Amino acid sequence: MVKIGTPRPARPADISVRALVKQYPGTSSPAMAGVDLDIAAGEFVCVVGASGCGKSTLLRILAGFEDATAGQVTVSTEPVRGPGPERGVVFQDYGLFPWLTVAENVAYGPRQARLAKREVTARTERALETVGLSRLASSFPQQLSGGMQQRVAIARVLANQPAVLLMDEPFGALDALTRSSLQRELKRIHRETGTTVVFVTHSVEEAVYLADRVVVMAGGTSHGNSGYVREVVEIGLPEPRDVTGEAFNELKRRIDRLIHLPNATAPAPRSSGGVPVAS
Ligand SMILES: Nc1ncnc2c1ncn2[C@@H]1O[C@H](COP(=O)(O)OP(=O)(O)OP(=O)(O)O)[C@@H](O)[C@H]1O
Ligand SMILES: [Mg+2]
Repeated sequence: MVKIGTPRPARPADISVRALVKQYPGTSSPAMAGVDLDIAAGEFVCVVGASGCGKSTLLRILAGFEDATAGQVTVSTEPVRGPGPERGVVFQDYGLFPWLTVAENVAYGPRQARLAKREVTARTERALETVGLSRLASSFPQQLSGGMQQRVAIARVLANQPAVLLMDEPFGALDALTRSSLQRELKRIHRETGTTVVFVTHSVEEAVYLADRVVVMAGGTSHGNSGYVREVVEIGLPEPRDVTGEAFNELKRRIDRLIHLPNATAPAPRSSGGVPVAS
């Protein structure tokens, strides 16, 4: 139960990706080309696709860790020019500072932003409460399980009250039970904060459970072409989602088929505006 209020972003952000191309230095062809995507403010989008199709590349460009070779990425109409606290990033390896306590890890962003001490404390407490770790505030990361460390990583990002949460296989290293409990928590956090979420996963089941829409990417240089968006699947299942239901499994099968379609049947990459914004 949330007692003192989940940190909310100042305002949720929409994301627009237009004709995005990424070619890494020293490579002969783009890793990703012709990617168009519109994500509505507050939407939860999962990105799936075979290894090497450019999921992490797309996420790193959204995060501002990589520059695009061509095309445009805007968040709330602002072009992305580098990393920023309004875009929180969570990776598979938790990336916590081992020499700081849990609370100090979470307070790091607000401190860097030079917020008043009272505000730093309030945000840290709220973020830890949101992920259910208040009682471990003075522990060190290495004293915690993987699932708890990933909770700290999520709290650390939430303390910045990001408008966008970018997650690259965040639960990939966790056991099945921990993973499903973090999935439920993430859904709750999304509901409470209204943050826009872009979540990369290899698990189709996880994508269908979490997402409003699932972006299926395909291609990639190891398949002889560039990564691109093959299709965007609207999930449209009521909450709470019944993972054993026929509708859920039909969506899973459809997305699995899309992931495994041979690349020879791939359409030419779209140049603009091919993917609708969810209404
Ligand atoms: N820094 C880099 N320099 C050169 N090539 C890169 C670099 N990073 C990624 N690539 C290449 O770009 C392509 C897309 O990689 P990316 O990591 O985005 O794929 P992915 O879909 O996230 O794969 P996975 O599911 O295995 O995580 C791959 O062919 C990869 O080898
Ligand atoms: Mg990846």
